[in-house]
This record gives sequence, C-alpha cells and structure tokens, in this order.
Amino acid sequence: MAEYIYLVNKDTLIIKPPKKSPCFLRTIVLLFAMVCGVYICTICLKQIGTVTKIKFQNIQVIERPSPDSIIITELEAQIPTLHYPKPETFSRGECTQNPVRFFAILSMQRSGSGWFETLLNSHINVSSNGEIFSVMDRRKNISTIIQTLEKVYNLDWFTSASKNECSAAVGFKWMLNQGLMQHHKEIVEYFNHRGVSAIFLFRRNLLRRMVSVLANSYDRYAKLLNGTHKSHVHSQDEAAALSSYKPMINSTSLISDLKDVEMAAVKALEYFNSTRHMVLYYEDLVTNHTKLKDVQEFLGLPRMKLTSRQVKIHKGSLSDFVKNWDDVNKTLNGTEYESFLRADY
Ligand SMILES: *[C@@H]1O[C@H](CO)[C@@H](O)[C@H](O)[C@H]1NC(C)=O
Ligand SMILES: *[C@@H]1O[C@H](CO)[C@@H](O)[C@H](O)[C@H]1NC(C)=O
Ligand SMILES: *[C@@H]1O[C@H](CO)[C@@H](O)[C@H](O)[C@H]1NC(C)=O
Ligand SMILES: *[C@@H]1O[C@H](CO)[C@@H](O)[C@H](O)[C@H]1NC(C)=O
Ligand SMILES: *[C@@H]1O[C@H](CO)[C@@H](O)[C@H](O)[C@H]1NC(C)=O
Ligand SMILES: *[C@@H]1O[C@H](CO)[C@@H](O)[C@H](O)[C@H]1NC(C)=O
Ligand SMILES: *[C@@H]1O[C@H](CO)[C@@H](O)[C@H](O)[C@H]1NC(C)=O
Ligand SMILES: *[C@@H]1O[C@H](CO)[C@@H](O)[C@H](O)[C@H]1NC(C)=O
Repeated sequence: MAEYIYLVNKDTLIIKPPKKSPCFLRTIVLLFAMVCGVYICTICLKQIGTVTKIKFQNIQVIERPSPDSIIITELEAQIPTLHYPKPETFSRGECTQNPVRFFAILSMQRSGSGWFETLLNSHINVSSNGEIFSVMDRRKNISTIIQTLEKVYNLDWFTSASKNECSAAVGFKWMLNQGLMQHHKEIVEYFNHRGVSAIFLFRRNLLRRMVSVLANSYDRYAKLLNGTHKSHVHSQDEAAALSSYKPMINSTSLISDLKDVEMAAVKALEYFNSTRHMVLYYEDLVTNHTKLKDVQEFLGLPRMKLTSRQVKIHKGSLSDFVKNWDDVNKTLNGTEYESFLRADY
C-alpha cells in the first residue's frame, strides 16, 4: 500500500518512510485505542495539494481484538477504498450516502476483458466505462491520464455503461500497452493515493490469445461480417464467420513472442504489486463461477447474478483455427508452452 505512518497502541510503531511526490503528499496516521475491549480507530487524513483539507472520520469498530497486524491489513484494505464522490454534472440523489469503490481492469487485448466487462456492467451498481485510454490524446502524458482518471472516478464520465446516481463501483479497462506500463510509477502512486483497486485479467493460454489477436487484426481489414469489423460477437453465425479465417503463425518467432507477452504480465504484476489488487484468469472465469463472486466481494458489491450476451469466437480445438498447425505443434512440443496446444479455452 501507500507510504503510511502507523501508530499502534503506543508501544508498537511501524513506520514506512513517506515518499514525496510532486503532485501529492499524504500522511495517514492510524490511532488505535483500546477501549473496553473494543478497538476504535480514527483516521486523520491530511492532503496537501492544490487544496488543503483535513478530514476526520470514524471508520470502523472491530469487536473482537485480533493481532495488530491483521487490523492494519484490514484497514489498509478498506479505508482508502471507500469514496463519496460529488459529481459536477449531476446529483447522486438517493445514493449520496452510498460509498463508491474505484477500480481499473488491467488486461491485454484479446484476453476476455470485453466479455468480463459486459458481465460487470450487468450489475446494477457497476459502471465500467470501457477502454477509455484507447484514445491517444487521453494518454499523451501523465497529466492527461490523471485528468481523465479524475473525471471517471468523480462519476463525471459518461458512457452507455454509466449508472451514475447509484454506482457502487466505477472504473474502466486499461490495456497494458495504453500508457499503463510506460507511466507505471505515477499511476501506482495515484492508485494508492486515491484508493483505486486493480483487477488484473490475464489469459493463461497465450497461444489462443495470439490466434485471436491475428484473426481480429485480419478482420479489421477484411471485415468478414458484411463489411463491418467486429471484435466481439453476439451470435453463433457471427462467430462462425469470424473463425473461418485461419491465421498463419510465425513459428520462428513463436516462442519468443509468447515469452514477451508472458513477461509483460509478470512486469505488470510487479509494478502494481503495492496496490490493492486481485488477479483473474480468463480460463478460470469461464469454468468457475465462484470467481465472479470473488470479484463482487472485492468491489464490496451486493451479490448479483452477472450475465453477458457475448459469444465466444474460436470454439473447439485450436488446430482447426491455425493454418500451419503442424509447424506450431512441432515448435511448442517439449517446451514449457506445450499445454497451450491442447487446452480448451
Ligand atoms: C500534456 O499534454 C497536454 C495536452 O497536449 C499539454 O497541454 C500539457 O502541457 C502536457 N503536460 C506535460 C506535463 O507534458
Ligand atoms: C444499487 O442500485 C440500486 C438501484 O439504483 C440502489 O437502490 C442501491 O442503493 C444501490 N446499491 C448500492 C450499494 O449502491
Ligand atoms: C449479412 O447480410 C445478409 C444479407 O443482408 C444477412 O442475411 C446476414 O444475416 C448478415 N450477416 C451478418 C453476420 O450480419
Ligand atoms: C518470422 O519471425 C522471424 C524472426 O523474428 C522474422 O525474421 C521473419 O521475418 C518472420 N516472418 C514473417 C513471415 O513475418
Ligand atoms: C509482491 O510483494 C510481496 C511482498 O512484498 C512479495 O512476496 C511478492 O512476491 C510480490 N509479487 C510480485 C508479483 O512481485
Ligand atoms: C473456484 O474458485 C474458488 C474461489 O476463487 C476456489 O476456492 C475454488 O477452488 C475454485 N474451484 C475450482 C474447481 O477450481
Ligand atoms: C514431440 O517431442 C517428443 C520428444 O520430446 C518426440 O518424441 C515427438 O516425436 C515430438 N512430436 C512432434 C510432433 O514433433
Ligand atoms: C502434434 O503432433 C503429433 C504428431 O503428429 C500428434 O500426435 C499430436 O496429436 C499433435 N498435437 C496436437 C495438439 O494437435
């Protein structure tokens, strides 16, 4: 988490030296007092930026004493993640008193994040605003990135996904190659400062992802569906039309290409390790419905059944979708990526 200073029961003192940043300077002091077997915690939050404000809030009463470290972990996990935004463009009405959580889905192209986002948006209290940083101007530099983030998290960003008044979780999806890795230091700082939770969504089978990337970029030019390019489809016919194109995979660079993608994911996890985050895999979401419950819990949402109308494009054995399958089979046989040849999703 961010660089906080903790004061615990006067006799335990944990200090993580605060890092100074040009934009933000924040100090959080947690004071634990044990009163009649009940921990009461008070937070003093002081922000020095363009505005200086001081807020006092009673956060939480924990009935049963537990080890300090656990309490700190819980507080770290909870306190900075609840927000009461005051949008400039509308009033939150009946939901003014409902807390809002900020999230970002960090993913890569063709990893199921479009599908995942439609699932999330089927929740009555979730606004996930799409791939907002696909627009170059918004990720030009860290200032434009933060400006955009502020607007999204203040609920002043409008898309078809916006629930506005009664959003309990607001976010968007962000691809690793959309300025996220390039500006990771400032973005991590922002996430920790503003209490943004990260949801990593990766695909285990990087070979299937590669096929999807190639087919999708081919369709961008060929426009298989009656002259329009589609990244996601809603019927079996459309899926069949899109998967009729069999890409050729460069077997010479295949291993190093897979490795590059794998390393990008590892790096992202390293960079964003200090943020509040969870890691999801597309394959697990498909086979294990508990994962969607985990996500709703992570975002503090009332639990609902989530649905999507999207249809998977490449179904069945991967060998049917690759022109030079024998080459690919030979190249990956006996390597760490061999299982990609067989796996179903
Ligand atoms: C970022 O880009 C905006 C828009 O082009 C520009 O006005 C601003 O000066 C840039 N800021 C920095 C820090 O480069
Ligand atoms: C979810 O949305 C409904 C309907 O807009 C609203 O009544 C409810 O208070 C919201 N729940 C939360 C936790 O914000
Ligand atoms: C393409 O156009 C034909 C004829 O207009 C229509 O029957 C068909 O459903 C369309 N296919 C898709 C995938 O939109
Ligand atoms: C395949 O990859 C190799 C190594 O990166 C490269 O030299 C070659 O040009 C590529 N072939 C095609 C058809 O792109
Ligand atoms: C994240 O940090 C924890 C604790 O500092 C460490 O144990 C873990 O290996 C790190 N994970 C990654 C992916 O760097
Ligand atoms: C499904 O996910 C849950 C929670 O994430 C996990 O505890 C469980 O072991 C998973 N089930 C399977 C069959 O992998
Ligand atoms: C795969 O590798 C094994 C040994 O590792 C070899 O016996 C087999 O012939 C290889 N198969 C292909 C299709 O290259
Ligand atoms: C790979 O090639 C071998 C030998 O031709 C074959 O037995 C195996 O089924 C192939 N694997 C896949 C996943 O197609």
